[in-house]
Amino acid sequence: MSDSIGRGADPDRIYHGLEGVLAGASAICDVEETNGGLFYRGYRIEDLAERASFEEVAYLLLMGKLPNRKELSAFSEELARSRPLPEAARRFLKTVSPTANPMDFLRTAVSFLGLDDPDRESNAHSENLRKAIRLIAQIPSLLAAFRSAPGEPPPSDPSLSHAANLLYLLTGRRPDPFSAKVMEVSLILYAEHEFNASTFAARVTASSLSDMHSAVTSAIGSLKGPLHGGANEAVMKMLLEIGGIENAERYIGKRLARKERIMGFGHRVLKQGDVRSKIIKKYAEELGERKKDRKWFDLSSRIEEKMRREKELYPNLDFYSASAYYLLGLPIEFDTPLFVCSRISGWSAHVMEQHDHNRLIRPRCFYTGPKDLPYLPIEHRS
Ligand code: CMC
Repeated sequence: MSDSIGRGADPDRIYHGLEGVLAGASAICDVEETNGGLFYRGYRIEDLAERASFEEVAYLLLMGKLPNRKELSAFSEELARSRPLPEAARRFLKTVSPTANPMDFLRTAVSFLGLDDPDRESNAHSENLRKAIRLIAQIPSLLAAFRSAPGEPPPSDPSLSHAANLLYLLTGRRPDPFSAKVMEVSLILYAEHEFNASTFAARVTASSLSDMHSAVTSAIGSLKGPLHGGANEAVMKMLLEIGGIENAERYIGKRLARKERIMGFGHRVLKQGDVRSKIIKKYAEELGERKKDRKWFDLSSRIEEKMRREKELYPNLDFYSASAYYLLGLPIEFDTPLFVCSRISGWSAHVMEQHDHNRLIRPRCFYTGPKDLPYLPIEHRS
């Protein structure tokens, strides 16, 4: 054993990227590695996506059980009531450049919301729950305010569901029922995926007994990257660059030959495919049919075939979400922020679980630099 590594750490087994490491226990979500299955609190994602509302799923993640009718209506009302932004956040919005990156904006805005959150001094379960509900309700309002800057955002419509209101806020139009359903399904699919990079970042921050807003700010920073949440945005930019199905084979072939990554494919855990991708694919196709614009779906399917043939890589959730959001009329740079609007439910459930059963997350690192160098006074250094 080296002098540096003790207490059971094995210098012959370094898990780069923590691949395959069980870094903690959680009762929130189960990802089945072999067949890509996914369960939130024990419920199969296929059932939740087809039959539940986003509000029901958020309740399930936060409270650990599906709500009855009375609980759901109280929860939905509380979410709708919490949508208006506090005055301090409105003042902050006036200072933000409309050309800022929307993810940078959200990261800063959520941090700002924490400054005067009424429960900011406590990490107790009930205070955390209130903070979580406010964050789920207010992140869409922040995005809408940013989108409409410097003008006034459309006011939320309390009669609309969370998903329909989100579409209304970002497009300025009340959505038709199918468009609202596509948004609902996508929010449910994006809500939670155990120890992905952003959730783990949130838990690491929470594990020092730092607060919910600090943890969510860390998570948003992590989600922004193109290997994680930034992928959906990158997918749509790629589809637009390819332009049409006739260019797909050549474009993808060239990029693979240059050993470049194709965004929206592959997954650290799900090597045999992702059930969420199959679900959103179905909705992306139907949306294309209804909007009489199959171009993006057909192009995406061609890329999927090519990636399977050439690389045995499967689409992840980000791949078909990108063209679905595009057909819903949402600006491309809002794709990753939409992921935030959903994953905030999973992140906050994880922050609460971390605080409720805390153990500081502090792994070891195998040191690879020099050691015991002689200290030279500055005048003797070359
Ligand atoms: N395009 C081309 N080749 C790929 C891709 C891809 N998207 N993903 C993996 N590979 C190749 C990679 O080049 C490597 O090949 P080789 O063995 O010949 O060098 C092999 O597959 C294994 O890759 P890896 O980097 O060891 O796999 P990983 O587990 O570290 O990567 C990943 C997971 C998500 C970072 C990666 O698949 C990737 O970069 N995908 C594109 C970005 C993306 O879609 N991210 C969203 C992830 S899922 C939803 C989310 O979390 O937001």
